[in-house]
Amino acid sequence: MSWVKFFVAFLISIMIPLRVVSLDSSSENDYTGKHVTSENLYAVILGNKSAVTGGSGKVLDSGPNDHIFIYYADHGAPGMLGMPGELDVVYANDLVHVLKKKHENKAYRKMVIYIEACESGSIFDGLLPKNINIYATTASNSRESSYATYCPDDDFSSPLSEYDTCLGDFDKANLREETLQHQCKVVRRRTINSNFGEGSSHVMEYGNMHQRNDVIECYMGSNPINDNFSYDINHVVPPSPRSQFTTTTLSSTTHHPLINAHHDQRDTIIHHFSHKLRKAPSGSREKRELQKQLDEEINGRKVTDYRIYEIGRLLFGTQKNSSLILNHVRSPGQPLVDDWDCLKLHVKTYEKHCGRLTIYGRKYTRAFANMCNAGISTDQFVAALIPTCSTKI
Ligand SMILES: *[C@@H]1O[C@H](CO)[C@@H](O)[C@H](O)[C@H]1NC(C)=O
Ligand SMILES: *[C@@H]1O[C@H](CO)[C@@H](O)[C@H](O)[C@H]1NC(C)=O
Ligand SMILES: *[C@@H]1O[C@H](CO)[C@@H](O)[C@H](O)[C@H]1NC(C)=O
Repeated sequence: MSWVKFFVAFLISIMIPLRVVSLDSSSENDYTGKHVTSENLYAVILGNKSAVTGGSGKVLDSGPNDHIFIYYADHGAPGMLGMPGELDVVYANDLVHVLKKKHENKAYRKMVIYIEACESGSIFDGLLPKNINIYATTASNSRESSYATYCPDDDFSSPLSEYDTCLGDFDKANLREETLQHQCKVVRRRTINSNFGEGSSHVMEYGNMHQRNDVIECYMGSNPINDNFSYDINHVVPPSPRSQFTTTTLSSTTHHPLINAHHDQRDTIIHHFSHKLRKAPSGSREKRELQKQLDEEINGRKVTDYRIYEIGRLLFGTQKNSSLILNHVRSPGQPLVDDWDCLKLHVKTYEKHCGRLTIYGRKYTRAFANMCNAGISTDQFVAALIPTCSTKI
């Protein structure tokens, strides 16, 4: 192969490590814990050694003949991806800006990016140019959740059931022959599962579509030891139909127009608590404690739902106008928001006055984005926010 070496970057921040892997490197994690940050991610991608903090200091010091593969799995929200640090997120425009810069620096030949997160399409939709040799696949489009395949009564030996099947079709792939497009189609078919009905997600493709015909090995490499490996597809646990847990809990007690009826990755925490609750001996202290945690999580969600709804009502006059504007989804090919600084400022301002947005609360970044798109200034936003968030509920 003429392109000598290539790099693989793994960011699996749910599991904490950020790995920067090249053909000749060890498999140690390069950045763990508090060193998995958006700033380090950008510096690693850009190959800027002096900009990283902590970790092994390894960066993608790639050149014009290299192929790069990036895999990112975390919680997502409209326009953003989670990071392990509570206040740190990756905004779509910042990531795409870094990718454009990497292209300007002529620091790769081709790049493939896989993102597994809720609303992950919003990271690239309307933002990723088609002419910078990047092909991206996301677990879901820009308006939907990405769905967990683990159900609460499956094995909970792992801390949280954060993973979905999406993009996980490595089991029977022959990396030397299977193309990216083929892999995408297989995963897409398996992810749009009729049992899931509305709660299925759509694997999406963005960027340079010519790269779909490249074989996976170009980006992910291949270990000769696995050449003859075959995987029995019958032993793959099929995705279970989603359970009805959260919607029934929330919608039986609240009627806010903004609550959507999906069972998404954001509900894994609820499944986790309720599963443990079911298993705890009745009348035990553990059960009471778990019930309290579950109630707190659900109440916290109701408070957030109410606040966003109330802010919208103050800004847009009526409930009807507010939910029309805040829930609006722009057509494909348009970015989530025109003014990203406005979105960032709204998120920051909300968190200052109303408390940190949880993984659940972050689903309202689309509402914040729509406020920006509707021309709501920070002053107007603050004027609606202060009375709403200073009221105890
Ligand atoms: C690398 O990062 C440092 C610190 O953020 C910055 O000052 C410098 O300009 C960057 N170098 C390049 C080549 O972008
Ligand atoms: C894979 O199978 C082929 C054909 O049977 C054999 O020649 C080759 O050595 C095997 N490779 C490995 C890594 O076992
Ligand atoms: C609701 O929206 C309509 C159409 O944009 C507008 O004409 C009307 O004034 C709005 N109502 C209020 C109370 O702001």
